[in-house]
Amino acid sequence: MKTIAAPRAVREEIDRAKRGGATVGFVPTMGALHEGHASLVRLARARTGFVAASIFVNPKQFGAGEDLARYPRSLDRDAELLASLGVDLLFAPGERDLYSPRDRTRVFVEGLSNVLCGAARPGHFDGVVLVVAKLLNIVRPDEAYFGQKDAQQAVIVQRMAADLDIPVRIVIGATVREADGLAMSSRNAYLDADARRRASALYGAIAEAKRRVEAGERSAAPLAATMERRLLEAGFGVDYAAIVDGETLRPVEEIRGTVLIACAGALAGTRLIDNVALRVDGGAVEEVLLAFPEWSRYG
Ligand code: PAF
Repeated sequence: MKTIAAPRAVREEIDRAKRGGATVGFVPTMGALHEGHASLVRLARARTGFVAASIFVNPKQFGAGEDLARYPRSLDRDAELLASLGVDLLFAPGERDLYSPRDRTRVFVEGLSNVLCGAARPGHFDGVVLVVAKLLNIVRPDEAYFGQKDAQQAVIVQRMAADLDIPVRIVIGATVREADGLAMSSRNAYLDADARRRASALYGAIAEAKRRVEAGERSAAPLAATMERRLLEAGFGVDYAAIVDGETLRPVEEIRGTVLIACAGALAGTRLIDNVALRVDGGAVEEVLLAFPEWSRYG
């Protein structure tokens, strides 16, 4: 595995792989890698001939007072893991490799970026889509991989790539969970033993809502209210406990079509999020990934 910081050198390496006939898969990350990232890399490895990953803790997606300074950084360990998973190229830029004080361009995905986590973290998704657009332009992969765990990010990135005609197929990978259901996340490392035990209530609340939909409940309000109560009981400060349309991320009253059951909140100072997406068609309920290849000419 080659590790490269300079965007131009990354392009040269990718162009060489493409000239050799390889399709290119790309897994963007902020490092502090866990099994969730590893599963995306395995997906890329199975689907494409040349796999690139990036590690960049993007300052533009952290608000004032968020955890940029203490965000876990473990480049050597991460690089070892990526190499062991068969990654061909690690793009590990510094801040000045991606941003300049002269930059003036912003990317804003209207209607999707300022709801749910975007309401609690103003500007967060503007930072995410800016860096993802830049990374996709540098790496120019055939496919890029994002986790369902960050469902809102997955939807916004798909919308942005389609709207800007970026020639990439966005592939969504399933959430990887600990034995008690907690979704894997780099931020789980902040939890002490007591908070870690209580954190399982997040998926517990969502799984309970899912079971009630499977049992025939079609009204969103009582499910959202129960999820919020479960989180408060576990000691969360709740940002939202919501059931929204899977494409527009707008709250729904009736549960039908593709819906996202999603919660976010802070537990002992650590912000955690989780979700499940369901496809509800009459009495049939199926857990799905929020993948919309039909949005893009390249899907
Ligand atoms: O999901 C993440 O780790 C980040 O938001 C991403 C997509 C790498 C952009 O910085």
